[in-house]
Amino acid sequence: MTTHDVIVIGAGVTGLTAAWRLAQAGQDVLVLEARERVGGRLRTDVLDAAGAPAPFEIGGQWVSPDQDALIAILGELGLTTYPRYRDGDSLYVDRAGVRRRFADDLPLAEATQAAITELTKKLDELAHELDPAAPWDHPDAERLDRTSLRAWLEEQCDDAEACDNIALYLGPAMLTKPAHSFSVLQAALMAASAGSFSNLVDADFILDRRVEGGLQSVPLALADRLGDRLRLGQDVTRVDWTDGGAVVHTADEQYAARRVVLAVPPTVVRRVRFTPELPAEHRIAREHQSFGLVIKVQAMYPTPFWREDGLDGTAFGPYQLVHEAYDNTPAGESRGVLVGFVSDVNADRVGRLSDAERRERILDSLAAYYGDQARHPIAYVESDWQHQELTGGAYGTSFDLGGLTRWGRVLRAPVGPIEFGSSDVAGLGFQHVDGAVRVGSEIAVGILAAG
Ligand code: FDA
Repeated sequence: MTTHDVIVIGAGVTGLTAAWRLAQAGQDVLVLEARERVGGRLRTDVLDAAGAPAPFEIGGQWVSPDQDALIAILGELGLTTYPRYRDGDSLYVDRAGVRRRFADDLPLAEATQAAITELTKKLDELAHELDPAAPWDHPDAERLDRTSLRAWLEEQCDDAEACDNIALYLGPAMLTKPAHSFSVLQAALMAASAGSFSNLVDADFILDRRVEGGLQSVPLALADRLGDRLRLGQDVTRVDWTDGGAVVHTADEQYAARRVVLAVPPTVVRRVRFTPELPAEHRIAREHQSFGLVIKVQAMYPTPFWREDGLDGTAFGPYQLVHEAYDNTPAGESRGVLVGFVSDVNADRVGRLSDAERRERILDSLAAYYGDQARHPIAYVESDWQHQELTGGAYGTSFDLGGLTRWGRVLRAPVGPIEFGSSDVAGLGFQHVDGAVRVGSEIAVGILAAG
């Protein structure tokens, strides 16, 4: 059996970046991917839409200006981006179900707006105090990690609609969990990972640009460069290791290497059996990680009809089933596409409905923003990653209350010859493709430095 320098398990952006950087440095690398495709949580499908093909981003799609690791690799791979459509007013549906247009600030009562400004300031300060690579080092980390975001918001402010809007940004829209289920430290990490809370809540910043041909072009281009150093359909079930190296098992094959990179989400590490077992702390830490849950819905219409009404397609409603929606029309497409998100407890609820009932409820919610026309798409695509064993949810994993301070350090710690990484353990770019690029690069640099 050939002994490779490094075996990378998982051909998402983290694994492919690590593998490509190692290959560029002359290492003998082999990438094993369980699926019959590369990209993991990035998947761009061309689907039939009323007789004509159209590209749909089933997974991640947006790039923001702070994501310099992703922007650099896009440049290196010769990939180009285009801006999201943003001409016109946005929409907000309030607690009473009333729809309002707005240009800059949310159309809220003055006191509610002032409360949001104050909470934003506090969260910006907290994010600024935090090192996203080591949030557990914050001087007040333990208290912040045992307080839920919801409880913290209610301590700071008694304006319910202000709290609900801030909770929406960090809960349903980002960690895709209810705000009572994760800590304010976890929320501050999410904000710090994007540079600030203000960045995170600015749709024009965080959902700035898209990649021509789709964001899966990144893993596809990296896979192309790796060539026959990548093998698909290789689900790794077992890793036998010593300090000197490892033998990696799939159903039919065995591969040997001096080092192994397990580039899969922390929750998916559990599918692999290790001999000897990983230290107990590693198992326990990952048992306290869980995926958030969001259903991404895309609806295509004969035209982007909202634009004729002077709307940019952006819509928010903390009390709506679809809590946020955007114009998602790809570059060069004359038909219009809306993308909306159904998150955490709402995703649980509609997940129990039949496909037809779920579609009707979701289109009703889009109609609350855009009017009756939204009920009649010519194509309708739902992506729900909870049903995929090799992922298990979306967008990423995070800790329950208290987990970040108790086990945060463990997730990146190597064991013998095995390194662990994915966007879920990133500091900057946490839960984003940018974080996957950073973690993959950092692992490669570490392996090369160790010799
Ligand atoms: P990822 O999960 O992608 O890759 C892990 C790979 O390991 C997979 O290919 C898997 O099949 C493989 N694997 C697992 N177990 C294995 C085993 N035992 N053996 C072999 N292979 C194994 N981000 C962003 O920046 N902008 C955005 O707009 C969005 N939006 C978004 C929407 C949706 C619906 C999702 C699901 C996600 C996003 N994201 C996003 C998040 C982004 O997609 C995500 O952070 C990265 O793609 C994660 O890349 P990784 O390589 O870390 O993990």
